Amino acid sequence: MKRIRLGVNIDHVATVRNARGENYPSPLTAALLAEKNGADSVTIHLREDRRHINEQDLKKIIKKIKIPLNLEIAATKEMLKIASRSKPPFICIVPEKRKEITTEGGLNLNYNKMFLKTLINKLKKKKLRISLFIEPSLKDIREAKKLNVDCVEIHTGKLCNLINQKKNYKHEIKKIEKAVKVGNLLGLEVHAGHGLTYDSAKILSRINGITEFNIGHFLIGESIFVGISKVIKTFQKILKL
Ligand code: PXP
Repeated sequence: MKRIRLGVNIDHVATVRNARGENYPSPLTAALLAEKNGADSVTIHLREDRRHINEQDLKKIIKKIKIPLNLEIAATKEMLKIASRSKPPFICIVPEKRKEITTEGGLNLNYNKMFLKTLINKLKKKKLRISLFIEPSLKDIREAKKLNVDCVEIHTGKLCNLINQKKNYKHEIKKIEKAVKVGNLLGLEVHAGHGLTYDSAKILSRINGITEFNIGHFLIGESIFVGISKVIKTFQKILKL
């Protein structure tokens, strides 16, 4: 069986740094350590309010790492400019609300569709891999295909919450299974992310057809106790199932 790739999201190293306005802990060090310990890519989300990663982090990380950088951005003119300039090999377009604690759901593909199309076309011309962060909905998968992206990333937040709260997750996992199947049939690479822990990654990794997981909050949180190297190794074992 093919191994699922692991994208390590290091946003929350910057969250800790910014909490004190210091220059440590360093997101660049986290990115380099993720690379050294076998991450397949590094993910950062440059938010409109710069609450964690900032443009300096983006510049430093993209210059120093050898594995692909996956830049998560909202569909805005400012982010299109930054992405066009920095040309990260992977881009994931995500929804963004100022007051949310984290990315609360998938993109609304019908909101501002003309601009979304323009943004995708402009970035695809630069030969960057483009992904859309969406809910596990068949309608959204089909819409994503029409938008000519390479991949979709399924928002796994609802499933992960159910698993964490030891609630019945059968319906949600069935929805994700169907979405993955349809995505693959349409020729899309299907990824998964949001809220993933060891338990939810184990459950999701049993679905055939998901090629990449992007994991941040839990991974960085666990690293406080046992170190990023150990946490990445544990996730790698899970993704080899
Ligand atoms: N994938 C995407 C598209 C995201 O927006 C996020 C959160 O920023 C993640 C993955 C990582 O989620 P978490 O930090 O909950 O692991």
